[in-house]
Amino acid sequence: MKPIPDHIEELADRLTASGHLSDPRWRELLHAVPRHLFAPPLAWVDGESGPDQLVDQSADENAWLTTVYSDTSITTQFDDGATPLEKGGENYTSSLSAPGIVIAFLELLDPMDHHRVLEIGTGTGWTAGLLAQRVGDHNVTSVEIDAALSADAGENLKAAGCSPRLVVADGADGWAAGGPYDRVHVTCGVREVPYAWVEQTRPGGRIVFPWVPGFAFGHQTRLAVTFGGRAIGRFAGNAGYMMLRSQRFERYAPAVEEDGEQTTTRLDPRTVTSDSYGCDVAIAALVPGLTSVEEDIGQGRTRLHLRDPDGSWALADHEPSRDDFAVAQAGPRRLWSEVEAAYLRWVSWGSPGRDQFGITITPDGQTLWLHSPDNPIRP
Ligand SMILES: C[S@@+](CC[C@H](N)C(=O)[O-])C[C@H]1O[C@@H](n2cnc3c(N)ncnc32)[C@H](O)[C@@H]1O
Repeated sequence: MKPIPDHIEELADRLTASGHLSDPRWRELLHAVPRHLFAPPLAWVDGESGPDQLVDQSADENAWLTTVYSDTSITTQFDDGATPLEKGGENYTSSLSAPGIVIAFLELLDPMDHHRVLEIGTGTGWTAGLLAQRVGDHNVTSVEIDAALSADAGENLKAAGCSPRLVVADGADGWAAGGPYDRVHVTCGVREVPYAWVEQTRPGGRIVFPWVPGFAFGHQTRLAVTFGGRAIGRFAGNAGYMMLRSQRFERYAPAVEEDGEQTTTRLDPRTVTSDSYGCDVAIAALVPGLTSVEEDIGQGRTRLHLRDPDGSWALADHEPSRDDFAVAQAGPRRLWSEVEAAYLRWVSWGSPGRDQFGITITPDGQTLWLHSPDNPIRP
């Protein structure tokens, strides 16, 4: 069987090649805090549709280690723990995040030796362990909403020789008792940044989180805290994450085409969803509340599903043989029409990329902007 340090070196090489790892200190820390100590013996990994492949350590130790040291996330909880791990399911609620995104976020966080760090979403504890090795146990507080997960993380961290402060609480409130923090590292998806995180961060301190607005994919985001208790920053890369519990999306229920107002569009729905990440940010900013799902409906056809919590929905179908495309919409809003207008507005701005957009957090809420904070995007 391949020795663990070899698995770790190979993983670090892959993360370097993929551009996730550039600071050699994280390579050392991958050795100091071995990932297999944070993986369950039954490892659910992604197959065709979500985490549907089970790798059992007791059945094949080698396959399990190879899985653990590949760049894949491992689902560690279903239905907030109501479904046993061995049973699996569609509603996954905690995971051991994939090494690539973990290291990418740690590099974005860029903690210094003396920094006090707050992590939101302990999970099985791997990131908390890496942080504890980086800045010292006494400087790390990690908050997890689920008591059983936090207890397991405590055991895993002990096995790795780490002892950061673990707190069971709603991380949306931060953890004021451990602050002020130099760095806040959020490891669950966020639609709206809770102001508590800004309040608990020192001026000049950083907050990193996956901004997951609901339309298309999520975005790595880094904010810095500045005058007047504001946090300002830009988007940095892709990030798909389980949501902060209070900001989860409604379970998706497909709409029925015949129930909606039927029209056609000349704008190819696939253009809207695959043009650029900058386009995704613009649409999320201009069409608040929007969530989307893309579905393969066979024979080269795709269907874009759009939703709003007020009950509005729209379907837009791409069919290869057509010059225009079928649209169905219903509810208080006309979501496809809004998305179409938002897309064309983004084109009229010169199709700016994701790095041209940013976000500002104040006590009054969050504002998205284009190019600079004094150019807010209004829906
Ligand atoms: C992707 S997992 C975290 C991965 C983990 N940091 C790691 O190193 O692998 C997201 C975690 O956030 C937790 N979570 C969700 N909402 C939360 C909240 N409001 N407060 C604290 N933790 C939360 C979930 O229970 C889950 O364990």
